[in-house]
Amino acid sequence: MPDQATLNHAAQVIAGISADKRADTALRFYFETRRYLGAREKRAITQTVFAYFRWLSWLDPKLSPQKRLEQAVTLHERFKADEKSVKAEALAVRAVPAWVAAEMELPADYLRQLQREPALWLRARPNHAHALAKSLFAAETTKLAPDAVRFTGTQDLFKTEQFKTGEFEIQDLASQLVGLACAPQPGETWWDACAGEGGKPLHLADLMHNKGVIWASDRNARRLDTLKRRAARAKLFNYRTAVWDGSAKLPTKTKFDGILVDAPCSGVGTWQRNPHARWTTTPDDVRELAATQLALLNHVAGSLKPGGRLIYAVCTLTRSETTAVADAFGAAHPELTPEPVLARTPQLLLWPHELNANGMFIAAWRRPS
Ligand SMILES: C[S@@+](CC[C@H](N)C(=O)[O-])C[C@H]1O[C@@H](n2cnc3c(N)ncnc32)[C@H](O)[C@@H]1O
Repeated sequence: MPDQATLNHAAQVIAGISADKRADTALRFYFETRRYLGAREKRAITQTVFAYFRWLSWLDPKLSPQKRLEQAVTLHERFKADEKSVKAEALAVRAVPAWVAAEMELPADYLRQLQREPALWLRARPNHAHALAKSLFAAETTKLAPDAVRFTGTQDLFKTEQFKTGEFEIQDLASQLVGLACAPQPGETWWDACAGEGGKPLHLADLMHNKGVIWASDRNARRLDTLKRRAARAKLFNYRTAVWDGSAKLPTKTKFDGILVDAPCSGVGTWQRNPHARWTTTPDDVRELAATQLALLNHVAGSLKPGGRLIYAVCTLTRSETTAVADAFGAAHPELTPEPVLARTPQLLLWPHELNANGMFIAAWRRPS
């Protein structure tokens, strides 16, 4: 059980959380304004806050915030000691909000996975996963992605020499599988239309051995600034950035060998890592995002070269944002051929309990030569 000081800190963090201030943002702000807190204290506070949201609908609303936090930690400890102590029937009605059942299957293994603490995945530079895992001590590789390393230690990774010299990025395994599904070749021209802070475009750049070019666009210029900083640390230069608001007015007339639309989404696939979002995401969000996703795909489709491939990825599992978007797009673009994803089906749903990572949906098409 966390000590009283940890519970008090966690209660203050929770008081600062709102629908538009996520738990991780509130924690970052809390720590920035309390520099005296050490790494161990910060970790304990973070774990307590996340346990609270993971077990929220089990908690007694009549109790004080501190008592509810204690209740959440007790539930979490009991679950960790014996996962079967929480029945599948209880998970089905409490682990996620009721509206989700209309949007996706809810396998018992998935719901149990949601209550576990998430794995932390790193992406090593190409062919360096084993060396990185060895140098970080508490880390292991996986057959699922050649450069992925699961970190099991407790040290602050941002302070390691390996991070400062660009030997790895923190990137979830499911996101790494998106890069592998793109499989860009050195010398090709790619467009990452929702490049954000650079997770996937930097992976593409690495896979292209710094040769060829990646257009990295996003509607948020500040996110692209972060991408540039990360690219400099990783010594990757085969990219250019452009602000693009997702409208029909494209940032370039270039035709591409490949386009990745890693679209904004409800993030249901990240609910294990980000349990607060379970209680703030709404069916309206899902509906609006599905319309944005389809519009983004429609706008970029004309920029594929003959033979070029289009990859659609979203870290969500709702039907509206996954198969429904891919089916609607496919129906509107009979000139494109569905393509296998990672040598499997053209629409691939990756589940958190199968990967021990975020949930992800990937679909692919090719413009015939
Ligand atoms: C899932 S995130 C991308 C993450 C990024 N690809 C990565 O791997 O780090 C989606 C991105 O889409 C951007 N976005 C949201 N709406 C958009 C729009 N209408 N047009 C273009 N980008 C948009 C957001 O700013 C966000 O960075």
